[in-house]
Amino acid sequence: MDSSAEAMKAGAVTEEFDLAAADYDRMVGANPGYHEHLEISARRLARGLADGGAGPRVVDLGCGTGASTLALARTLPKAEIVGVDASAGMLAVARRKSWRGGVRFVHARAEDVTADRVGGPADAVFAAYLLRNCPDAGAALAAASALARPGAPIALHEYSVAGSAAARAVWTLVCWGVVIPLALVWTGRTRLYRYLWRSVLEFDSAAALRERMSAAGLEDVAAAPLPGWQRGITHTFTARRPDSAAAPGQDDG
Ligand SMILES: C[S@@+](CC[C@H](N)C(=O)[O-])C[C@H]1O[C@@H](n2cnc3c(N)ncnc32)[C@H](O)[C@@H]1O
Repeated sequence: MDSSAEAMKAGAVTEEFDLAAADYDRMVGANPGYHEHLEISARRLARGLADGGAGPRVVDLGCGTGASTLALARTLPKAEIVGVDASAGMLAVARRKSWRGGVRFVHARAEDVTADRVGGPADAVFAAYLLRNCPDAGAALAAASALARPGAPIALHEYSVAGSAAARAVWTLVCWGVVIPLALVWTGRTRLYRYLWRSVLEFDSAAALRERMSAAGLEDVAAAPLPGWQRGITHTFTARRPDSAAAPGQDDG
């Protein structure tokens, strides 16, 4: 079985998330700061909303079991929030939760989802821990940008360690010292979490991801750190779809 990060992204990632879905919330709940950090990134996204967040449509790409969706729902109590995910198993867990009105979920790959599937162009797009999992991160970013209204804010919440030896070392220590052993004890499966370790090491540095976002035609690209053991490891990357003129290679619809 080819378990390289690239092979996983091209095929088995969705199946692995399906298998991990039942234990996913317990696993991320053991990660100090996981939920708080999603809320920090959600607030950073919300700051980009022109009207201060009165009733916007916000799309949460790669919403999983809804941890990022909840962060958005708390941050933007009047927003219509549409969670999108490729894994039916993760979405089933998300849908079983109790949500306020205005929150719903769509089963689709981020690369394929169009504004029609989410009820219209998005006033803001959020993607937490998604891009690294996509076989073509550029295509996923282009789709996120195409979903957004001109001028809309986009925020990515991502692990990015490639630019720092210290961050790579802490990441490896946390994965092999805590995350993978915990997955083994709690779930009896480690494939997704070994992939998590490797895929983060192989993903863009923070500088490379900012460049990737700029190359996708996004404006005002910036990165901000998150606190705790994740400092230098997890970041919020914020940007904005240009007010006018389509991103390179994109329709303006
Ligand atoms: C690490 S989880 C993050 C879930 C959630 N955003 C959170 O913050 O807890 C990544 C999610 O992205 C989804 N995913 C991976 N590749 C995807 C793709 N190409 N399109 C849509 N969802 C995808 C997975 O199914 C999984 O639910």
